Amino acid sequence: MPQSLLNIVLIGFMGCGKSSIGKVLAKEIGFDFIDSDLEIIQSQNMSISNIFKTKGENYFRQLEKNFILNAKNLHHYVIATGGGMPIHTDIRQMGFSIFLDASFETINYRLKSKDDRPLFDAQAHKRFSTRHPIYLKNADLIIPANNSIKEIVSLILEKIQII
Ligand code: S3P
Repeated sequence: MPQSLLNIVLIGFMGCGKSSIGKVLAKEIGFDFIDSDLEIIQSQNMSISNIFKTKGENYFRQLEKNFILNAKNLHHYVIATGGGMPIHTDIRQMGFSIFLDASFETINYRLKSKDDRPLFDAQAHKRFSTRHPIYLKNADLIIPANNSIKEIVSLILEKIQII
């Protein structure tokens, strides 16, 4: 792995596996793991849905920006981002970004609980299509993410060794 690889930042649409893959990947490479949504939930002591409902999306996006400001000081972390982070903020400041490129069909199938995902609504498919090119543009590495967690992590490990 290159010395400059301070953090690995996982990006992609809701349900593409950022948190579950991030945890396994971090363990494999001896990095710590942090999840932006979880940090926000804990700091606000409120679910994401409640933040959206009571304070609005703009407020949530500001919390994501604050998360990035702090995350810039992290070293050797795998960072799972919220699905909207690359759309509204500059995630590249945090480290080497990996786009987990799962199809909408995979995501829809995987996302059993859509409860705390206010933006996985009737517009989700359209949102997925609009965002896809933005994830691509913000990725240092693109990983197909329709397989099992184990296979996806193996592929990432294979790729980051040769960069
Ligand atoms: C969002 C994705 C969610 C969460 C919030 C907004 C989005 O995170 O940050 O509901 O805009 O796509 P996950 O990608 O972890 O579901």
